Amino acid sequence: MRNIEIIGTGSYTPKHMVTNEMLETIMDTSNEWIVSRTGIESRHISTGEETSDLATKAALEALKDGNLQAEEIDLVIVATCSPDSLVPSVACKVQKNIGAHNAMAFDINAACSGFVFGLDIARGFMASGRFKTALIIGAEVLSKIINWEDRSTSILFGDGAGAAVLKESTVDGLSYINCKSEGEKWEALTCGSVALENPFIMDTIPVNSKVTMEGKEIYKFAVKVMESEFNRILNEAKLNKEDIDFIVPHQANIRMIEAFSRKIGVSLEKFIINLNRFGNTSGASIPIALDEGNKSGAFKKGNKIVVIGFGGGLTFGSALITWNKDL
Ligand code: UT7
Repeated sequence: MRNIEIIGTGSYTPKHMVTNEMLETIMDTSNEWIVSRTGIESRHISTGEETSDLATKAALEALKDGNLQAEEIDLVIVATCSPDSLVPSVACKVQKNIGAHNAMAFDINAACSGFVFGLDIARGFMASGRFKTALIIGAEVLSKIINWEDRSTSILFGDGAGAAVLKESTVDGLSYINCKSEGEKWEALTCGSVALENPFIMDTIPVNSKVTMEGKEIYKFAVKVMESEFNRILNEAKLNKEDIDFIVPHQANIRMIEAFSRKIGVSLEKFIINLNRFGNTSGASIPIALDEGNKSGAFKKGNKIVVIGFGGGLTFGSALITWNKDL
């Protein structure tokens, strides 16, 4: 396997911030319920920008941070479950917007695990030697697929994008990746169904195109896989939990992160947590949090960072990042 590392990160969220108090005015909920059950205080919601707009802004920041020109990018992968359209992909629009003329560009959908799936795919592509650089973006405008009449799901999500630039390296900056799916549980989280409609069907069967979710099912799944994936990485990498400097989990619910932290015996201080400000941004949540760890100066050269995502599919993915960027 060729070595690769993250050389740059970027993120972008729409300007319009929606607080829990603002939600109280449009549905039967309360700030107290939302904060105590989820830890979320506010989220950013698009008032006009599409998924490709958010993705483009995060990508440009990541390129700048990585000191790389768009023409030098060989691969653009956008992880999203809320694309602008089925065709073209968000990745192709980003390619045009940033001028990554030499890249292969496509979208993937692994819901909230999408960014980690993107890292895994890019790593595999780069192993061939044909791709020297890659831009992996998680981008979502979930506000357009949320059922705003359903208070149990609509309070959870937010819009945003995060990006990372990967490059061939002399150090092993991305390792011990594992991405898996448990398709037998797909009904626990669905959205975006398109009605089967054509001139040869007499009665079109209506579908629910908005988010449906079995919250408790996902909760149990998430805590279980975060614990098992963290321990898998320690075992395979022959590390102790004390060797891990940061954990960047998918930002879904503070109670899940607290339960995970208790199970593995690692203090919350080692976690990058921003779900209070952004809510659950699905595929964008991990790269936004990585960008915060990078830009705040928290990540130091040589740090070992575990990323773990989980979500619809059901899917999960984890990886060990060794940070090699100078401040
Ligand atoms: O990226 C992965 C995406 N999925 C997730 O992250 C979901 C993971 N699951 C969760 O985060 C939690 O299951 C939820 C936050 C979704 C729900 O928390 P919970 O503790 O499992 O609550 P619940 O569904 O058992 O609901 C408890 C009560 C219900 O009322 P009754 O039946 O006990 O009278 C709900 O109707 O809370 C009520 N409720 C609300 N009340 C005020 C549900 N949503 C709301 C709300 N405001 N927004």
